[in-house]
Amino acid sequence: MTKIRTCLFPAAGYGTRFLPATKAMPKEMMPIVNKPLIEYGVEEAYRAGMTDMAFVTGRGKRALEDHFDVSYELEHQIKGTSKERYLDATRHLIDACTFTYTRQVEMRGLGHAILTGEVLVGREPFAVVLADDFCVNIGGDGVLAQMVALFQEHQCSIVAIEEVPADQTHRYGIVAGDEIAPGVLRLSAMVEKPQPADAPSNLAIIGRYILTPDIFDILRSTPPGAGGEVQITDALMQQAKAGRVLGFKFAGQRFDCGSPAGYVSAINYCFAHFDY
Ligand code: G1P
Repeated sequence: MTKIRTCLFPAAGYGTRFLPATKAMPKEMMPIVNKPLIEYGVEEAYRAGMTDMAFVTGRGKRALEDHFDVSYELEHQIKGTSKERYLDATRHLIDACTFTYTRQVEMRGLGHAILTGEVLVGREPFAVVLADDFCVNIGGDGVLAQMVALFQEHQCSIVAIEEVPADQTHRYGIVAGDEIAPGVLRLSAMVEKPQPADAPSNLAIIGRYILTPDIFDILRSTPPGAGGEVQITDALMQQAKAGRVLGFKFAGQRFDCGSPAGYVSAINYCFAHFDY
């Protein structure tokens, strides 16, 4: 069994769609009711067996580091009161995991952000979570845990996928391939943000990946693609040519919390299903 220890969180983006909320606060700190998106991502990774949480941040992201650290004054203040329990889950993550950070100095795309994280990952398979793709699977394993189980069987890169409306393909990496098991495709086409006419299907990549470390070498020589940015989708296509990328139709719900409508749906869903 190959242990996947590290989860990489690209978190350098500006979150301009949520201005002014994100003017002085990282978009990853936007809460789903009372818990920031990034904490949900870290919990999902931890539940999938990962303990090394690695962040690619940028300017203005200090709140992320502070969140995954003790807050002596606050904890002293609420010690022994009924409010202490509100910090239990976060404190548990802080005790059980390590948190490392590096900065992406220039915004040159998701592929470039992941390559920036190489120094934190090393030469082993790792996961990537885009925190604004918020995923829940009530009563079952989280999406990353499902993907780790699949990785044990196939030992190659895996992307989470779901169907999107045909007129939305320009917002996603779009894939196609042969179904080798129920919900598992061996990918043969991967295109970043195609117009509907150029899309190989309506199966979109959502923000959960397991990547083998050779992806770093591929990324180093991947030229800028869609939007003039270095795309992880293009690097993965190189692995796909060798039959080494799977698309996985996960169990659970995904909310696009990079958009106001998706964010509001996520909050409503959680408020209806969890106790607060
Ligand atoms: C990124 C990826 C894209 C993927 C999407 C999922 O795009 O480049 O392939 O479909 O995340 O959310 P972004 O949303 O950062 O533009």
